Amino acid sequence: MAPTAQAAARAEEKTCKAVANGGVGVGKAAAAAAAVVRCHPALAEHKASIRGVVGELLASAGEGRSLISLGVGDASSHDCFRRGGEFAAEAVAGAARSRAFDCYAPSYGFPAARRAVAEHLSAGAHHRTRDSDVFMTAGGTGAITAIATVLGGAPGANILLPRPGFAPYEAACEIAGAKPRFYDLLPRRGWEADLAMVRALADGSTAAIVVINPNNPCGAVYSAHHLLQITETARDLGIPVIADEVYAHMVFGGSKFVPMASFAHIAPVISIGALSKRFMLPGWRLGWLAFCDPNGALKHVRTATEMLLNVTSGPASIVQAAVPEILSNEHHEFHQNVVHLLESAADTLYRRVNQIEALQCYSKPEGSMFMMVEINTSILHGVADDMDFARELIKEECVLVLPGSVIGLKNWVRIFFGAPVSLILEACDRIELFCRTRTIKQND
Ligand SMILES: *Cc1c(COP(=O)(O)O)cnc(C)c1O
Ligand SMILES: *[C@@H]1O[C@H](CO)[C@@H](O)[C@H](O)[C@H]1NC(C)=O
Ligand SMILES: *[C@@H]1O[C@H](CO)[C@@H](O)[C@H](O)[C@H]1NC(C)=O
Repeated sequence: MAPTAQAAARAEEKTCKAVANGGVGVGKAAAAAAAVVRCHPALAEHKASIRGVVGELLASAGEGRSLISLGVGDASSHDCFRRGGEFAAEAVAGAARSRAFDCYAPSYGFPAARRAVAEHLSAGAHHRTRDSDVFMTAGGTGAITAIATVLGGAPGANILLPRPGFAPYEAACEIAGAKPRFYDLLPRRGWEADLAMVRALADGSTAAIVVINPNNPCGAVYSAHHLLQITETARDLGIPVIADEVYAHMVFGGSKFVPMASFAHIAPVISIGALSKRFMLPGWRLGWLAFCDPNGALKHVRTATEMLLNVTSGPASIVQAAVPEILSNEHHEFHQNVVHLLESAADTLYRRVNQIEALQCYSKPEGSMFMMVEINTSILHGVADDMDFARELIKEECVLVLPGSVIGLKNWVRIFFGAPVSLILEACDRIELFCRTRTIKQND
């Protein structure tokens, strides 16, 4: 598969460079030099990453049937989700043709893009986000890496992360030198954060708590009350909240998205957003980091972020140029269509999964594009854990789901529902067939 091929190409490239740098005496000398070249310890051990596990699973896909991929979160390949979304391509094409954006962008982003994000975040909000508090990053992941580096790089720092969670946080913490500490999300309480556990985990070296809302992987959307509880906890601990709102406004089933920044007077909020999910443009690599800090507690963190972004690279200039158009308020139909499609897909998946004896989903997703499903491995033969479940399922039925152990929850799977309902139904038929064949018959 592609990730493995890429990794191989990268390894090859490194080898070539090492040899080239070795100069004349290649052969033995180069080999000896290569043996003592060390790597970052967080990158040396082969830990499971989403891409790594997905690559491995895809390699064992059965032949002769079409693959239904509900493993990774990218709905952009389905035309139905793109309906009415031409405005983005037109804006970026216009920017490219104008030649005005062939230049480098300022390290924290073009003023017009920062202003558009600040206005987008401030619309109807309790606190205004200032243009100068917005930093444009290479995707939401760029924002995650930046803030993990800025806060997690402090000696001895730890960062509180949700479990189950989003794997790049853990990786970014470890690369920055911070210890990730995991607090539970509670499946029987609508996946709310276990705040008693948050308090127990925190200490004087805790740099921040990460909260993902609407939530990947659980599909939960937190109430204003729960967000208030979270910010009060953060205030008591003296830490900021990193609010991952990449799925902002992607809510349904009567839920309402409340920005964490509404509570920024209680504890400072650093929010993360991106065009990747809501606008179905993951490959455009545009995200942002925004400080909402009405009491000015994070001035030094904001400056450190500016410092970091001055020496790293941000998103492409032509994509930044398109941000004001993309974030404008004129694309209701596009967004309504996306939310409507997600709601039907979530309803269908939830209903069908709960009809399968070996599977259970405790709460219907009300946002994002993911659902967590518990597997009862004790009634499935040949399935000892979630890895087995995913491996056997793709082998027999060509359906890809993400094993929960990759994101911190063993014997669960994460299922992506950003797909047309017809495809979700087909996937459910296959999952049901797989489980039925594997279910150990009980004596009654
Ligand atoms: C997808 C995602 C992001 C950002 O992804 P990019 O593709 O880098 O924009 C951030 N957080 C969560 C929870 C996500 O699911
Ligand atoms: C970052 O760079 C800009 C100019 O490109 C400069 O004005 C600013 O002071 C720099 N910030 C820091 C914190 O170094
Ligand atoms: C698994 O199924 C068995 C038999 O139906 C049941 O007794 C057990 O409680 C289930 N376990 C879980 C974790 O749901």
